[in-house]
Amino acid sequence: MKGIILHGGHGTRLRPLTHTGPKQLIPVANKPISQYVLEDLRNSGIRDIAIILGDVLPEKVKQFYGKGQELGVDITYIQQDRPAGIAQAVGLAENFIKDSPFVVYLGDNLLKGGISKFVKEFQQQNYDAMILLCQVENPQQFGVAKFNENDKLVKLMEKPKEPPSNYALTGIYFLTPKIFTMVRRLKPSWRGELEITEALQLLIDNGYNVGYKFVEGWWKDTGTVEDIIEANRLILDDLNPKIEGTVEGKNCVQGRVVIGDGSVVNRGALIRGPALIGKNTMIGGGVYVGPYTSIGNNVKLKKGEIENSIVMDDCLIEINGKLIDSLIGPSTEITTNMKGPKGHKLIVGESSRIVL
Ligand code: DAU
Repeated sequence: MKGIILHGGHGTRLRPLTHTGPKQLIPVANKPISQYVLEDLRNSGIRDIAIILGDVLPEKVKQFYGKGQELGVDITYIQQDRPAGIAQAVGLAENFIKDSPFVVYLGDNLLKGGISKFVKEFQQQNYDAMILLCQVENPQQFGVAKFNENDKLVKLMEKPKEPPSNYALTGIYFLTPKIFTMVRRLKPSWRGELEITEALQLLIDNGYNVGYKFVEGWWKDTGTVEDIIEANRLILDDLNPKIEGTVEGKNCVQGRVVIGDGSVVNRGALIRGPALIGKNTMIGGGVYVGPYTSIGNNVKLKKGEIENSIVMDDCLIEINGKLIDSLIGPSTEITTNMKGPKGHKLIVGESSRIVL
């Protein structure tokens, strides 16, 4: 089995974070989303992996993953010039796949429990393709499956206004090279893309054996800030506590908390888990870090409170208030205006969102 990770797209709903890198590199619980994907493929025995790069700073992806040795995989990079659709991206990998069965995993999808079990089932059964479905409350926002009265999969519809079921297609597809013939037949959809949903529909229409399985734990497509904050919560729910840094006061840490090497929690601070503090980070006395917060490496959290949020590497926070539900990009400074005229002073990039 081979694997393909989709690492392109523009991530417009995650601007300004996606002005400076692809969305799949945004950290959830201090690890890029696509690293969870890569590790899931590797843990299922798939080591030969192609990453399809997009046109938003693809060199950052290469720099982060390199050839993949450190993570125990062998990575081939394939460039997609513009986001012309999931099926178009898959088509670019035809020479890499050759005659092998393979898994396509969208680089912004997270799945609790991983795909190992499904990889085995796909290998054991004689499917031409197999999809993974998840029951959702908002099927209009996904590809959706329709079944007949015998529970046979008959139709796949992309973002239907009137969904035939609430079973969404997750972005994890188990495929064989037969899909490439169908991709070649596709025409751009209403959103101008070659849709993998339509390629799968062509397999069904041509009598191929398309199977389906249901996700058992949670599945999350991380397209928006709210999705990312929720994914962070879901991952921190399973956090195993570990203190490697220095905690100066006795009652500074409550519940399941991870504190990375070289980090210092000053006396008088309170970290209430589940919470994750990276390496070489400083949490000042009087600071409150509430549940479901991930703080990156080399952060100085000198003053203030924070809850249900993600703070990326190299930030400085020194405020008189509380941050909630926030996603704070690397090297950001947030401080309280102590002198000069009263008011908020903002220096923010394009498409930022600030709620004061
Ligand atoms: O997440 C599951 C959903 O993913 C499915 O239910 C839908 O059927 C499927 O079409 C897809 O829908 P999205 O609208 O969420 O796809 P999106 O455009 O967000 O792209 C998904 C990922 O693939 C994202 O990580 C970016 C990457 N991508 C996307 C396109 C269109 C590429 O690498 N290249 C592309 O050309």
